[in-house]
Amino acid sequence: MPGQMTFVIAGGGLAGAKAAEALREQGFGGRIVLAAEEGIRPYERPLLSKGYLQGKASREAIFVHSPDWYDTHAVELLLGTAVTGIDRDRRDVTLADGGHLAYDKLLLATGAAPRRLPLPGADADGVLYLRRVGDSDRIRDTFQAASRVLIIGAGWIGLEVAAAARAAGVAVTVLEAAELPLLHVLGPQVAPVFAGLHREHGVDLRTGVRVAEITGSGGKATGALLADGTRIGADAVIVGIGAAPQAGLAEAAGLDVRDGVVTDASLRTSDPAIFAAGDVASAFHPLLGRHIRVEHWANALHQPPVAAASMLGRGAVYDRVPYFYTDQYDLGMEYAGYAGPGDYDQVIFRGDVGKREFIAFWMSNGRVVAGMNVNIWDVNDAIQDLIRSGQPADPARLADLAVPLNEVAAQ
Ligand SMILES: Cc1cc2nc3c(=O)[nH]c(=O)nc-3n(C[C@H](O)[C@H](O)[C@H](O)COP(=O)(O)OP(=O)(O)OC[C@H]3O[C@@H](n4cnc5c(N)ncnc54)[C@H](O)[C@@H]3O)c2cc1C
Ligand SMILES: NC(=O)c1ccc[n+]([C@@H]2O[C@H](COP(=O)([O-])OP(=O)(O)OC[C@H]3O[C@@H](n4cnc5c(N)ncnc54)[C@H](O)[C@@H]3O)[C@@H](O)[C@H]2O)c1
Repeated sequence: MPGQMTFVIAGGGLAGAKAAEALREQGFGGRIVLAAEEGIRPYERPLLSKGYLQGKASREAIFVHSPDWYDTHAVELLLGTAVTGIDRDRRDVTLADGGHLAYDKLLLATGAAPRRLPLPGADADGVLYLRRVGDSDRIRDTFQAASRVLIIGAGWIGLEVAAAARAAGVAVTVLEAAELPLLHVLGPQVAPVFAGLHREHGVDLRTGVRVAEITGSGGKATGALLADGTRIGADAVIVGIGAAPQAGLAEAAGLDVRDGVVTDASLRTSDPAIFAAGDVASAFHPLLGRHIRVEHWANALHQPPVAAASMLGRGAVYDRVPYFYTDQYDLGMEYAGYAGPGDYDQVIFRGDVGKREFIAFWMSNGRVVAGMNVNIWDVNDAIQDLIRSGQPADPARLADLAVPLNEVAAQ
């Protein structure tokens, strides 16, 4: 009887909390145990590099559920309790306190963790990463005390933190290994928009740079030494060079792990009693015909109901178009689809790129595979429809503001 079962969720981020919610919404009456390594109830991370970091959003705004939600929905929340091992034969997990917990179904929602800078001096005080709310607090405090910060990596963390630092009146240098910020995601046609945006806001953005060492004095970071001998001084160094899936548990348990925990389209791993969702999951995506691991909020929000349905033995497939957004200075954008390097052969612009009011479409063989609306709103659903339709789209009509987006694919 489902009412007598125990479902364990490892990981108390957005995906873990939403999975507990979805299980209850879908009628699961058994025991739900949510083991969360962090000593704080599940919260969402996007504000940590935006409104919360800038002091505009309150701490209460970050949480997924109210404090009493867990009791009222009979979700046993074990805070400060990591799952440390999985015994798949006995269907039992080990907890950090040495306890054991038998499960009927297990969900891995362990997320991702910042990649560490593998350089001399990188363990000095004042070298900061951003993943947890405490990290955001520390960086905000640093903005109060610092006159210049050095940011390593011009990805999402690096650029959003740069915007927050500028808003706080702090001078910013950003060092990026690639030739452009966000190059891997946006490609050479669109990434210059973000380079221009940050430079216009006074960021000293240096690309194609190799950092050799974090310099320090008395155990405290004082800046960086570049491979070409350049020295850059700063009061603090903030590192955002990517995140890695926290898949060690799954790997140790012998599950299929390749850049994340591999699942089918129903979010089931190579063990039929174990599921994965959120940043840690490398899920087969039916629309794309391959596995992808998405490190974005919408994925951690929408995969859990599918994982919950699968845990309950109901047919469900996760096939949403990947989606994410960012806010930096006065630029807001939404991106839908998936267009990594080599996935597209043409980029079409619609609107005014110079004014940063445009849509970019990444095309492959005449079809839209991704689209990004910048400071233009209420169009992302239409972009997703275009991608999902798989129909050829005429580039001239795509670029023409007079042609409604929902009529482009029909021609
Ligand atoms: C600063 C920041 C800003 C972001 N902004 C955006 C944005 O604007 N837009 C967007 O689309 N995405 C954004 N993201 C990405 C988004 O936050 C992630 O995709 C999302 O947090 C993934 O949720 P998750 O639950 O899968 O993983 P996580 O949020 O990483 O949560 C996993 C949790 O599991 C815990 N855990 C790990 N191992 C164990 C274990 N063995 N046992 C128990 N618990 C464990 C971790 O401590 C963590 O609390 C941002 C991320 C960061 C860090
Ligand atoms: N708006 C959003 O969606 C958003 C916002 C913040 C964070 N996040 C998520 O948080 C996670 C971490 O973000 P991130 O910005 O750290 O990762 P990222 O992968 O977005 O960017 C990392 C950047 O660091 C650069 N880099 C790598 N090694 C370097 C080095 N040694 N020196 C200089 N540059 C180097 C890379 O070329 C890349 O541009 C990701 O999962 C991201 O999706 C998302």
